Amino acid sequence: MLGAWKKNNRGRASTEPTLLPNSFPSAENLQEILHRYKEIRLNGFQTNPEAFVSSYEESLKKSDDTWRSQLQSQLSKTFVSVIQSQEAPKNSHGPISFESFDDTHPSLQKLLQNDWVGIVSITGPILFSKPNTAAKTSLSKPWETFIKDGKYQLPARPLDPNYLRGKYIVYVLGGLFVSPQARGQGRARQLINATIEAAYKEARALASSKASIVIQAEAGNTRARRLYESFGI
Ligand SMILES: CC(C)(COP(=O)(O)OP(=O)(O)OC[C@H]1O[C@@H](n2cnc3c(N)ncnc32)[C@H](O)[C@@H]1OP(=O)(O)O)[C@@H](O)C(=O)NCCC(=O)NCCS
Repeated sequence: MLGAWKKNNRGRASTEPTLLPNSFPSAENLQEILHRYKEIRLNGFQTNPEAFVSSYEESLKKSDDTWRSQLQSQLSKTFVSVIQSQEAPKNSHGPISFESFDDTHPSLQKLLQNDWVGIVSITGPILFSKPNTAAKTSLSKPWETFIKDGKYQLPARPLDPNYLRGKYIVYVLGGLFVSPQARGQGRARQLINATIEAAYKEARALASSKASIVIQAEAGNTRARRLYESFGI
């Protein structure tokens, strides 16, 4: 429930997470962000296969178009935690062209000039709904919004804000990963805080009657579970 989310600012990482833009000033910038996005996602699937539904092997087979539509999805917001790069700025194709961005894209600069060590996405808002068979208690089970015909499903595109206005909306948080060398510095907390803030802002703008954030996590992932529970998620 919106009012129950608790902000938690403990932690030592100095840089706040950065929201990934979903449009880019140049094709080169998009390509470089896509490269970094794939790299950190694949790193997560490979390092902690037990924590994710997607597998490393299957994800390696995904086309760039699939990755691109995931990255630029209008239904999701992705936040990245960065660390100052130890090396000169580079990309997969050689040096980054700094002429291609300016002061109007500070977040893009930050994303291109630093190493990515953490990531999380929040998807929504989606209109709360419950399966036909559910009892009245479904109101306290907002995750059922994402279950259609027994399967986890997301809408293909964002819903019209006018349709959502004043209603009960739901978000799903997913893909939380922090690189092993950057763990224990409060980065996951910062990333979750960023998603809560974004959802809170949107829910207020939509005058939502209620808003919930749900997560999809492995029951055995006690570290992540404790973390989410400490936020009231
Ligand atoms: C779970 C994960 C995201 C935590 O990232 P992190 O940046 O290290 O987390 P934080 O530093 O923000 O710490 C969050 C909490 O994790 C726990 N934690 C942190 N470092 C820990 C360590 N070395 N040992 C055990 N628990 C630890 C603590 O409960 C901490 O809360 P606290 O502030 O009350 O101590 C990271 O371990 C990870 O990427 N794991 C693999 C992927 C995964 O499980 N994702 C979740 C999918 S649902």
